[in-house]
Amino acid sequence: MENRKKDFLWGGATSASQAEGNFENNGHSLSVWQMIPYIKLQDRASIPLNFESFTKAWVEEVFENKQGLHYPKRFGSDYFNRWKEDIDLLAEAKLDIYRMSISWSRIYPNGDELEPNQKGLEFYGKVLNYCKEKGLKVMATLSHFETPYPIGKKYGGWMNKQVIDMFVKFAKTCFTEFGDLVDFWVPINEINMTAIVPMMGGASFLEDFPGTSYDQLRFQTLHNQFVGQAKVVQLGHEMLGKKNIGCMIANMTAYPIDCNPVNILEWQKHQQTQRYFYFDMVAKGEYPTYMLKLFEKLNVKIDTNPEEMTILKNNTVDFLSFSYYMSGTVGTTDVQYTSGNLTGTGKNPFLKATEWGWQIDPQGLRYTLNDLWDRYHLPLFISENGMGYDDKLNDKKTVDDDYRIDYLKQHFKAIMDAIDDGADVFGYTMWGVIDLVSGGTNEMSKRYGLVYVDYDDFHNGTGDRFKKKSFYWFKKFQETGEL
Ligand code: BG6
Repeated sequence: MENRKKDFLWGGATSASQAEGNFENNGHSLSVWQMIPYIKLQDRASIPLNFESFTKAWVEEVFENKQGLHYPKRFGSDYFNRWKEDIDLLAEAKLDIYRMSISWSRIYPNGDELEPNQKGLEFYGKVLNYCKEKGLKVMATLSHFETPYPIGKKYGGWMNKQVIDMFVKFAKTCFTEFGDLVDFWVPINEINMTAIVPMMGGASFLEDFPGTSYDQLRFQTLHNQFVGQAKVVQLGHEMLGKKNIGCMIANMTAYPIDCNPVNILEWQKHQQTQRYFYFDMVAKGEYPTYMLKLFEKLNVKIDTNPEEMTILKNNTVDFLSFSYYMSGTVGTTDVQYTSGNLTGTGKNPFLKATEWGWQIDPQGLRYTLNDLWDRYHLPLFISENGMGYDDKLNDKKTVDDDYRIDYLKQHFKAIMDAIDDGADVFGYTMWGVIDLVSGGTNEMSKRYGLVYVDYDDFHNGTGDRFKKKSFYWFKKFQETGEL
């Protein structure tokens, strides 16, 4: 099959806190995500994390690290030192676009500084200029779960509305410094993370807000992020004079477990609250009725005012970007569960799953693109997709990752089919294009890349880069357009 949309952007993505390392130098503070240690999984397919266990007391205790725990996201894949080599590899594989994040912790390590950290600006200036030199377009994420931990400690994270202003200040610095070098901006990665784990998404801990329910914490923190994101959209439009700011949402496509009407209603509720809600907020700029009803039921009272609601309404995004790894099922009974991105979901007997239990569903991507296009009529960009696998480097210093090639081929075909169906899709960035630390499980051995990085789960290894079979496959796809 041929790649029929000639100006489509094919690329790869990384994040600062999973790739950079170099956590204690150049004024960098730790971001929330770098506070979580590696804990070996007994069963990779079972849901590994008990999110409510991430209390502030626990984080502070592990921070002292008396147990000698390993924190992989503080080391990443050593991108901070190897960025040039990595960008050369991306250019060699003929990527059109590279999605990366600019670490808030490197630019405003405490959030409340008046001036940005020059060393951080210098680093991203070098990286972005080099991308330009190599002909790569760039999508920059402003916070890929990278709220500086000091903001959580001192201000209570995004639950505190002062953090909105800190984020807007950070965005303003990035627009001023890098506005000419970045092609597309995404303010907040997978914004729905905050409604699932406010600590990870928003650096807000329940202990800091006595008398507040977990539901109130998660939806208030999320609301403040929606407002912060809308303010950044407004600022970007004013400063950059371009319509190039999108959202990033972890897409939770699911199917009803069967055609029993009670399950259809359950599925509809799930898709509204777990999926459409987020897209509705950023595309339509207001709370949908079904969420207002849910808030009533949960006794959630959003602290807001007419000014914030106007900001949300008037500053919707220019395109919708989302991650798509898998799909799930929903029903009231008879559902067996499996792991997935951000949350677990129902098993689907028609789908195979990875070792981590993530169900592989390329047709679900075609369905999702058609569905989102019909509903919002905004250009679509798949900003994360890929297959986590415990790749092994062979004697020839490569990885024969035919399973990944197969996964990518099927998903690329699904995108092309969706374009044929009429959906306006303009780009795709494969997750973890150069191996990096897993977001959810902190394993280095859960690899997604076209390039193998020689580190194990404890950061032992040379850090050398090796091209996998999929690297050559991707390059050929870019040269010929043939899948
Ligand atoms: C997304 C995140 O949730 O999924 C990434 O934006 C993350 O940061 C990716 O790495 C894949 O998840 P994992 O847990 O397999 O790394």
